[in-house]
Amino acid sequence: MASGPGHWLDDLRQRADQREQAGLRRALRPRTPGDGVTDLAGNDYLGLSRHPSVIAAAAAVLSQYGLGATGSRLVRGSTGLHADLEAGLAGLLGAEAALVYSSGFLANVGAVRALAGPGTVLVSDRYNHASIVDGCRGSGADVVVAPHADVAAVEDLLARRGDRPAVVVTESVFSVDGDLAPLPALHAVCRRYGAVLLVDDAHAVGVLGPQGAGGVAAAGLSGQPDVVVTATLSKAFGAAGGVVAGPRELIAHLVDTGRTFIYDTALPPAVVGGVQAAIEIALAADDRRAILAARGAQIVERLGAAGFAVPPPAAGVLSVVAPGPEAAVAWAADCRDRGVAVGCFRPPSTPDGSSRLRLTLNAGVADQAFAHALDVIVECAP
Ligand SMILES: Cc1ncc(COP(=O)(O)O)c(C=O)c1O
Repeated sequence: MASGPGHWLDDLRQRADQREQAGLRRALRPRTPGDGVTDLAGNDYLGLSRHPSVIAAAAAVLSQYGLGATGSRLVRGSTGLHADLEAGLAGLLGAEAALVYSSGFLANVGAVRALAGPGTVLVSDRYNHASIVDGCRGSGADVVVAPHADVAAVEDLLARRGDRPAVVVTESVFSVDGDLAPLPALHAVCRRYGAVLLVDDAHAVGVLGPQGAGGVAAAGLSGQPDVVVTATLSKAFGAAGGVVAGPRELIAHLVDTGRTFIYDTALPPAVVGGVQAAIEIALAADDRRAILAARGAQIVERLGAAGFAVPPPAAGVLSVVAPGPEAAVAWAADCRDRGVAVGCFRPPSTPDGSSRLRLTLNAGVADQAFAHALDVIVECAP
């Protein structure tokens, strides 16, 4: 029988030991400014997080409003900047209206729960992000996990659901493998069977589509009445925050009832100011998007020549399979020791249970540093 005030920690220690044995412990590695590391791990796809105009815009708002939003959006947290950003994001994403959240995670949870509840059939791609999974789990809907990117399976599920309302949820660019969801085909089956298509455009906004309008725009689906888009402001826009974009009625519903919107302190105004500057740059950043496309091809060629079968990335993220979790950790650590940051993804962060290096592109990295980083990755391979 356990005793003493710390007995409940025994269970946590035991579970940590099990993770240790399975090679699944995680460690925080604080970085320092100007550490000289080449970043192939972050999501700063367009290199905007440190853009002088973005920093200046954020700093100007910081000095006006101070550090935090001081309250939730419905209390004291809304500023004119938030409203302007929402109007701009609605325009960019081709929606009637948009609502900004303090993170992409909360935007996804809010969107899923708004669209699906008890009695709804909620079809979720097996590789969807944890935020979508958590939204599904908390929705009370009848959740069906569909095989990855399998339109026929989705169609079959929709066809067999009877007269229950249905929602299909997918990422546009998947966050670990970087592959593209078959959005036009998914939308076609949603339309045929009267389902709503919810697309998380986190890794595509700023990167794909005309003026970086995202994967939904690239698929020609902007503004469709049965498509709802979520995105994060923390990746190509280099900041933080999330957004849900869709019909006005949905946004009003979220403002009235969305728990992850109502009970959360608003995105700080300075971040909103920085994001607005970042979006302005991103709209005109075809040159940066061209760098990403060229670098994707360069990675495939360099790693392919070294014997790694890497599919061409659809946007700015791809992954390379490692022999196991320990090998992936060692591979990433060796790269880090040589000044190259790469992502190391192991279960449960990988949908298929494999371990990999996740490589991300950043248009702000110099050509030479990028080429050198690829050499380092190849030389450190297990
Ligand atoms: C596909 C996807 N959706 C949502 C999120 C969550 O976004 P945020 O980090 O802004 O909360 C992430 C990021 O980690 C992601 O990769």
